[in-house]
Amino acid sequence: MARLSEQIAIVTGGASGLGEAIVARFVREGAKVGVLDRSESGCAKLDQTFGSAVHCVVGDVRSADDNARIVSDCIERWGGLDCVIGNAGIWDYSIRLDDLAADTLASAFHELFDINVLGYMALAKAALRPLVKSKGSMIFTVSNAGFLPAGGGVLYTATKHAVVGLIRQLAWELAPHVRVNGVAPGAIATSLKGPESLGMASRKFPGEAMAAGAKNFVPIGRMPSPAEYAGAYVFFACREDNVPATGTILNHDGGLTVRGLGAIPRGGDDLVEQD
Ligand SMILES: NC(=O)c1ccc[n+]([C@@H]2O[C@H](COP(=O)([O-])OP(=O)(O)OC[C@H]3O[C@@H](n4cnc5c(N)ncnc54)[C@H](O)[C@@H]3O)[C@@H](O)[C@H]2O)c1
Repeated sequence: MARLSEQIAIVTGGASGLGEAIVARFVREGAKVGVLDRSESGCAKLDQTFGSAVHCVVGDVRSADDNARIVSDCIERWGGLDCVIGNAGIWDYSIRLDDLAADTLASAFHELFDINVLGYMALAKAALRPLVKSKGSMIFTVSNAGFLPAGGGVLYTATKHAVVGLIRQLAWELAPHVRVNGVAPGAIATSLKGPESLGMASRKFPGEAMAAGAKNFVPIGRMPSPAEYAGAYVFFACREDNVPATGTILNHDGGLTVRGLGAIPRGGDDLVEQD
């Protein structure tokens, strides 16, 4: 049964990785989806795959005008707005403070914070009034780096901690009209890029290597696919299921948060081997 039929949603960074999987799942659940993404080729691919169920604006999440455009396009085209998902982001390839040249720190800081934090805030600002009207919801992609060190470097970790604050503050400011929640995934094999200001704009995210080693650091024993994360967003968008949820952030990380410092017990392996 479609859980989001009649819903109109926006996903930023919907042209690749996790965002693309959320778009596909929302369409499957009956939603119409607007996408704001800077990748022209990614947007063209979405248009081809989903036809009239998806509308893309090629633009930058740091721009108030581009966020306003995707909101007004969706309202014009489909008559309203129920949910926005702030998801576009970049990583810092775990660069340590010590390794950041003093004269690039400020530009890298601004690039990371402008995309990962200002981008979410600009989307919230553009969508605020239509969402109050529809009593809709906002969902933001956090990361295990919103709660733990070592999921990135000092810049990325700081941006994702800031997103936790953004979700909590907006949940409070917009209650009882708009629900504001977050999903904090663990590592995913995507094309996550780094900042141009550090020359990392076309670096390849080591997702496959991480996936290969996942059984040694993810308690569930493997790295979930982007599609396997998408259901959490359906849950937070679904009016029937999200009633108690605002200011809630789901640590959806294969157990990374409870891993602690010990070795993974791999309970039950011996029983599997006996079968
Ligand atoms: N990949 C992981 O291991 C992982 C883990 C936890 C959280 N996340 C978060 O998931 C989200 C999605 O990342 P992903 O892994 O799917 O990466 P991805 O690179 O596959 O997708 C990100 C999308 O965002 C778009 N984008 C980036 N900057 C933009 C900008 N300034 N304006 C418009 N579009 C822009 C890109 O074009 C791309 O389509 C990010 O917020 C990331 O921090 C990723």
